[in-house]
Amino acid sequence: MAAAPKSTAKPLYALSAANNLMGLFRMDKARRLIIAGNWKSNKTNTEAVALVTDLIRDLSTVKEVDVVVCPAFTALSDVSRLVLESNIRLGAQNLSDAGYGAFTGEIAPGMLRELSVRYVVLGHSERRQYQNESDALVAKKAANAHANNLIPIVCVGETLAEREAGITERVVETQVRGSLAGLTAEQVEATVLAYEPVWAIGTGKTASSAQAQEVHAFIRKVLASMHGEAVAKRVRIQYGGSVKGSNARELLGQPDIDGALVGGASLEAKNFVEIIRNAI
Ligand code: PGA
Repeated sequence: MAAAPKSTAKPLYALSAANNLMGLFRMDKARRLIIAGNWKSNKTNTEAVALVTDLIRDLSTVKEVDVVVCPAFTALSDVSRLVLESNIRLGAQNLSDAGYGAFTGEIAPGMLRELSVRYVVLGHSERRQYQNESDALVAKKAANAHANNLIPIVCVGETLAEREAGITERVVETQVRGSLAGLTAEQVEATVLAYEPVWAIGTGKTASSAQAQEVHAFIRKVLASMHGEAVAKRVRIQYGGSVKGSNARELLGQPDIDGALVGGASLEAKNFVEIIRNAI
């Protein structure tokens, strides 16, 4: 019997170094980037279908980053069918802290699972502000997500007044500890965090890459003190707040920024695609 041919596969690091030299991957990241479009309360089902159809076409060759779209609940079913065979993953924008039952207006995890929803945005500053969501409620929802095989994208971030008062770190630490309270180390490791300074959301004002990196590194320090260095190193932390094609590369090039949560610029295929192209 002929001997099995020796594997010519190169170790991954060598591959990525070679690719970097060739300029194929401009970013050599410690964690796989995750770029999510949060469509918020925009797009009817028909409009959502049109948008995701364009994204599927334009992003079909992208393998280097995780791409997620988070349509409104009313569009999840149709968008789910369309992305099923694509490299785009589906996220929802909220989740009940309970299961099925007499909870009018709530969405139970099983309803999302049936639609192949993978991610769920929790504790977005708009929900914290307009629906009075507390860290404790976000933590309950995050636990519910994990218990049902959904990956929470947990958002934190300071307001302008808090930044100007010099309490950004205190605010963000309280949110991170409170919103992840009760999760196991394994669950925290599988959680995606999103640092979104409230003053940068929808304002066109982006945190500078240095400002963002500083808070991301701080969040990782908080995670390390909660669950140890190894866990903290594996958690992906997205930046959100007026991310667009022109600032994506600079932001995503920071060592502790592992992706983006994109609002306004995710509503047009061309803009969202530009962010992703600039990230790889
Ligand atoms: P923006 O929103 O990109 O429109 O600033 C970001 C977000 O709220 O997730």
